[in-house]
Amino acid sequence: MSTSAPAVAAHQLTKTYPGGVTALGGMDLTVAPGTVFGLLGPNGAGKSTTVKILTTLARPDSGTATVAGHDVLRHPGRVRRAIGVVAQKSGSDPVATGRENLQLQGRLYGVHGAMLRRRVGELLERFGLADAADRQVKGYSGGMQRRLDVALGLVHRPTVLFLDEPTTGLDPEARAAMWEEISRLAGDEGLTILLNTHYLEEADRLAERIAIVDRGRVVVEGTPDGLKGELRGDAVHLELGEALGEAGGTLLRPVLDAVSGVHDIQLEGRRISARADDGPAAVPALLAALDGAGVTVAAATVARPSLDDVYLRYAGRRYAEAEAAAEAAGTPGAGGDGPTGPGGERTDDLTTAGGAR
Ligand SMILES: Nc1ncnc2c1ncn2[C@@H]1O[C@H](COP(=O)(O)OP(=O)(O)OP(=O)(O)O)[C@@H](O)[C@H]1O
Ligand SMILES: [Mg+2]
Repeated sequence: MSTSAPAVAAHQLTKTYPGGVTALGGMDLTVAPGTVFGLLGPNGAGKSTTVKILTTLARPDSGTATVAGHDVLRHPGRVRRAIGVVAQKSGSDPVATGRENLQLQGRLYGVHGAMLRRRVGELLERFGLADAADRQVKGYSGGMQRRLDVALGLVHRPTVLFLDEPTTGLDPEARAAMWEEISRLAGDEGLTILLNTHYLEEADRLAERIAIVDRGRVVVEGTPDGLKGELRGDAVHLELGEALGEAGGTLLRPVLDAVSGVHDIQLEGRRISARADDGPAAVPALLAALDGAGVTVAAATVARPSLDDVYLRYAGRRYAEAEAAAEAAGTPGAGGDGPTGPGGERTDDLTTAGGAR
């Protein structure tokens, strides 16, 4: 960890929305300057709410936070000047061109004249938008629009950049291109990036450190490899021929527990997940034990630990399950990012946020 002051520090943030949804239940976060920090969690975990508080767009019910050394509640203006925000929903004006969007954004931040022209040209080039610069944004592909969003967040040279779900909805190719851009940005000028994502792979790939967020708090934090390394051995997943009832699960557990070299066994419906010191050796032993118990197995896989396994261990449920539960509970996938009118959502929000909430 760096000894310099953190770029982002949040302490025990809480937030309950009108209607009683507790979005944050004591969020703690420390991000070292010049690093990419991933906030990873399923839909509805509280990622966007955290970012809204850190970017001064929303107030916490309690708790404190500083960004770039400034207190978000006491000095929101200073925070806003230091940060770039790429909200979960695009804030660009679809009927303006890419260049016009960037110029408008720059002027709103007090960048003018030759300096602005140079900066806009540089960003268009860097984000692969030079050829499309003078076309209306509504004709851009999803990937181009998202790259423009990131460029918009950078016009005024912020020191901390908030990226809220930068690749959601992009096809794999556009996602890969965006990942490359983000990696490159991270290498630049000591920019600190707080990346919100619900893609395990995205956090694994881009973030130096990750906080896994579940139900409004951080359940575990560390480097991707460190987190995976904490899980001993291989992950073994078995898919059963049919779902076990609760009674079946209870009966089966001692049978599984008796298989040597296997631990952390979880039973959920048709799935059995376990850790094994030696996965390939554990599978035949597990199959034999299940066969002896009259349980049929449809599929078996062995894998090195993934962030999904880390999530399962710390949040106590599978990642996909948490996403499905959030969907069933009606959490909007695009997570209510507030007003998104054309012409720069970010700036509208930034200029009104201070007093309004
Ligand atoms: N403006 C709002 N009014 C009421 N409830 C809200 C509002 N914004 C968010 N919530 C709720 O607060 C919880 C946390 O939402 P948040 O958008 O912070 O999650 P998220 O981790 O960003 O999720 P997603 O992956 O869907 O973007 C969810 O249950 C959500 O439905
Ligand atoms: Mg969100």
